Amino acid sequence: MEIVFPLYVLIIFFPSLLLYIFLRKNRRSPHKRAKLPPGSMGWPYIGETLQLYSQDPNVFFATKQRRYGEIFKTHILGCRCVMLASPEAARFVLVNQAHLFKPTYPKSKENLLGPSALFFHQGKYHIRLRKLVQGSLSPEAIRNLVGDIEAVAVSALDSWAGGQVIDTFQAMKKFSFEVGILAIFGHLEAHYREELKKNYSIVEKGYNSFPTKIPGTPYKKALSARKRLSKILSKIIGERKEKRSNEKDLVGCLLNSRDDKGEILTEDQIADNIIGVLFAAQDTTASVMTWILKYLHDDPKLLEAVKAEQKATSQSNEEGNHPLTWTQTRKMPITYKVILESLRIASIISFTFREAVADVEYKGYLIPKGWKVMPLFRNIHHNPEFFNNPQKFDPSRFDIVPKPYTFMPFGSGVHACPGNELAKLEMLILTHHLVTKFRWEVVGSKSGIQYSPFPVPLGGLPAKFWRESAP
Ligand code: HEM
Ligand SMILES: *[C@@H]1O[C@H](CO)[C@@H](O)[C@H](O)[C@H]1NC(C)=O
Repeated sequence: MEIVFPLYVLIIFFPSLLLYIFLRKNRRSPHKRAKLPPGSMGWPYIGETLQLYSQDPNVFFATKQRRYGEIFKTHILGCRCVMLASPEAARFVLVNQAHLFKPTYPKSKENLLGPSALFFHQGKYHIRLRKLVQGSLSPEAIRNLVGDIEAVAVSALDSWAGGQVIDTFQAMKKFSFEVGILAIFGHLEAHYREELKKNYSIVEKGYNSFPTKIPGTPYKKALSARKRLSKILSKIIGERKEKRSNEKDLVGCLLNSRDDKGEILTEDQIADNIIGVLFAAQDTTASVMTWILKYLHDDPKLLEAVKAEQKATSQSNEEGNHPLTWTQTRKMPITYKVILESLRIASIISFTFREAVADVEYKGYLIPKGWKVMPLFRNIHHNPEFFNNPQKFDPSRFDIVPKPYTFMPFGSGVHACPGNELAKLEMLILTHHLVTKFRWEVVGSKSGIQYSPFPVPLGGLPAKFWRESAP
């Protein structure tokens, strides 16, 4: 048989070859045109990890920004990354081109919390879970929680009062955990709450420890506690299914969800997202509340103004004999601005991580596929261009709404915090009862910051609380 190229092979093959060459060239083109951002990569393998941890990490970022500008490369914790310190860059990564940057966490952390938790995901599954979580934390849903949150706040404050030294951060963690439980389960039997709390605290200790399965290590203990959490959750979910109640809390939303094929979520998917939300809700809110107590304590005039605002509310509730209402929590402008300014100046989530899923070009610079990308929220929040005299605690700066993407304590875009309304609500409610009925003193004069892993005042802000006698 004669071997000739039939004409049709040429007709089909040749143009596709051309197209292939053209596409490859185009795919490669960012490499050719764009260069890597400025910056230094430090030592082989360890990169600049030591520089990052030998000082306050924020000093590291700020020094880099002064030297290189809004975008620079570095190499930390074995990852090559590009750091971004401008509102436009943050918007590019988190909002406009979010599909090019996926969330990225170490596998050891994913496995501990639960690999199906929404913040590890992108795309269809993420959108589905996010709708459910957002729905259960929306203003319409959480306005029904005001009374319950208030009860938790009052009982927490009562347990601190009496003049013994309290680790404010630890105390706030108990409070934000209870509020998290309310949003997730509604009313949950006390014995389940206790079991969850104890086992969860073991999981949490493993989260920032060395990931190894050697028995006796915090990470291994955490993995075992995580398994026990799954068992407890499975029991709770089983009981909820039997009752067939139509609650609007997170568990209710997760149980009722059907995808476009009518499939329900698996028990692991439900459990991972419950633990995930609890994790996202607890230390964040507790760190901010701790800072709020410090800032109010350090500024007696500001405290007076917040007190006056809150006392007016409590007087209209017959000296606090009536419960707070949702509407009242919407009318606390001074306290609200104290919360915003605390979020800005403490910037407890100082940056986040993403990973480029393709070569991406930004302002003429190449962000190579596989590199980590870190929007630096804290640098933006502390830039004098956007916040005049940024080191000064000044709630009145929020009389004017900040420019877009200059204030992102809750992130932005597809992964922005769905719990932000709940976080602000619980902070308002706790502050209301704190300033109207209690006084507090910070113990010791040591100032400084500890990373737990979010920044909190040194020692968790040891303080004494007293109930103020009625006037
Ligand atoms: C003051 C307290 C809080 C702060 C400062 C905060 C901050 C943030 C930030 C910055 C993100 C985005 C992270 C990123 O883009 O990588 C985030 C995500 C998230 N937060 Fe919060 N958060 C707080 C409280 C809460 C609370 C109370 C809940 C739930 C009850 C919550 C649930 C979540 C969840 C589930 C995500 C992941 C969303 C997603 O990936 O789609 N957060 N939070
Ligand atoms: C953890 O959960 C189990 C139930 O699976 C429970 O018996 C135990 O008391 C809980 N607490 C601790 C500290 O393990």
